[in-house]
Amino acid sequence: MLTLSKVLKLQIQNALESAFPEAASAARAAGKRLDPLIVPASKPEFGDFQINGALPLAKPLKQSPRQIATAIVEQLETNADFLNLCKPPVIAGPGFINLILKPSCLVNEISSRLIDKRLGVPSIPPKKKNGEISPVVIDFSSPNIAKEMHVGHLRSTIIGDSLARVFEFRGYEVLRLNHVGDWGTQFGMLITHLKEVAPEALSTPNAIDLGDLVAFYRQAKQRFDEDNSFQLASREEVVKLQSEDPIALKAWKLLCDQSRREFQKIYDRLNIDLTERGESFYNPFLRQVIEDLKVKKLLVLDDGAQCVFLEGMTGKEGKPLPMIVKKSDGGFNYATTDLAAIRYRFDASPKGDNALRLIYVTDAGQANHFAGVFQIAERANWVPNHARLEHVPFGLVQGEDGKKLKTRSGETVRLRDLLDEAIERAESDLRLRLKEEGRLESEDFIEHVSKTVGIAAVKYADLSQHRLTNYQFSFDRMLSLQGNTAPYLLYALVRIAGLARKGGMIDIAPDELQFNEPQEWSLIRELLKFDEVIVEVEEELLPNRLCTYLFELSQSFNRFYDQIPILKTDEPYRKSRLALCRLTADTLKTGMTLLGIPTLERM
Ligand code: ARG
Repeated sequence: MLTLSKVLKLQIQNALESAFPEAASAARAAGKRLDPLIVPASKPEFGDFQINGALPLAKPLKQSPRQIATAIVEQLETNADFLNLCKPPVIAGPGFINLILKPSCLVNEISSRLIDKRLGVPSIPPKKKNGEISPVVIDFSSPNIAKEMHVGHLRSTIIGDSLARVFEFRGYEVLRLNHVGDWGTQFGMLITHLKEVAPEALSTPNAIDLGDLVAFYRQAKQRFDEDNSFQLASREEVVKLQSEDPIALKAWKLLCDQSRREFQKIYDRLNIDLTERGESFYNPFLRQVIEDLKVKKLLVLDDGAQCVFLEGMTGKEGKPLPMIVKKSDGGFNYATTDLAAIRYRFDASPKGDNALRLIYVTDAGQANHFAGVFQIAERANWVPNHARLEHVPFGLVQGEDGKKLKTRSGETVRLRDLLDEAIERAESDLRLRLKEEGRLESEDFIEHVSKTVGIAAVKYADLSQHRLTNYQFSFDRMLSLQGNTAPYLLYALVRIAGLARKGGMIDIAPDELQFNEPQEWSLIRELLKFDEVIVEVEEELLPNRLCTYLFELSQSFNRFYDQIPILKTDEPYRKSRLALCRLTADTLKTGMTLLGIPTLERM
């Protein structure tokens, strides 16, 4: 109801200003407006919208809230356009005004929704700058080479993908960047170690698999921590790599390819699209970062290292906190790479990305890192005025015991094992249900449904939590057909698909739409909220808002489905109800797609 609420806001603003012309012009003279504070109703019994402005206006207007509310209502009642949309406003409590939309207005909204593929969500006209479209850059997933992807990367991948989908739906060009950890000391250690224990891995593709690589990395790390000469050799190897020594470079490429192939398997299973631009990509730009920081007088030499002292952030003993950008041995680090990346991403020349908004999806543990990096980027003037730079942090994935998610033997859980288990459990649930219902289905059907439900459950369990809270990973809960789960939403769609098969999804002319039951009106009101929810997710970067909405929509639909007849009722109600079913299906499907979750016709 974005458009409608805009119209209403304008009418109410005008009513308030006509009721208090002097105060209104005084406010305007000060560059402000009197604010009627119109918000969606907090409870359905309050109607559709509430005007809350009378209370805070009481003091400046020197009248009681009720008097102010009465004056606003009197103005509104003289406006025929307003009375076309709303029933006569009701003053409640000390001076709130409740607005209830007229049925005719709701039916109009529904009939335009029925023929709108975008379901009321406005599409942003691409902003052209220098003839180019400024993209939204989302940095997500970003696992590390020679390490397994863990559940933290899974969260980043799922949340990042969903945000990217919302921006794409709104009409933005989105750059989905995979900032993989493919550079730095770890390669020095790994190459040095492999030269001794598995030299073939450095010259032949596919010589070892990722599992082995991870084990080798662990051994290398241990040697690095314990053995001085190994440390020295590793550092020399890093220098070789950074100066592009062909043998070191070849070994590095092979190792990256190996990990990349494994990562890709996960992305394929999750249907995630990413452009890989790892840390190594920014290697040629690191020196410029240091140069530029020097020019801008931000660099300080501290204990042999080049650093920037962060404002408003203190470390031990309240001393200002330095962010090291060039180590005393001349090496660069994670932060330097991120600084180079910000510069590159906001660079408006043909060499850069010219980003409009730059979003990082990582665990909350990196909040300080990003706060520091963002601060330096701001102080170095790399962030254009119109642009936005945001960290989207998320909490931990915990086991059912409330501790960090681990396997029974205490290892970190591998993503592919986790997805396999979700699918296996979905399959046994399904087989049980088929048996109970006496249904016979093909093996292809069982495989397809189990895969879809298993992956959907994992994704939805993650997205439906407020991303900042830690959440407990529970297969039982996420696969349940009850509650705020993927199977519950998928099942609502299956019900509608069943109705469509039986009743046909007939077209209906707008003037034929007729509703007479409360369950219909509450479903209608729920359906009309979709556009606002999407715009809110785009603004606040919280996919759980969309999940909550889809859950409430499914609940509202299920009440409608359970409590009133749909196929066995007279026209024009039958057609009208089927039209609501179709719109519910379209809204649920679009919403699920924006979460990166495919839907089913039968399950
Ligand atoms: N590779 C990092 C990790 O696994 C995440 C990188 C996030 N992106 C960035 N630009 N720093 O923790």
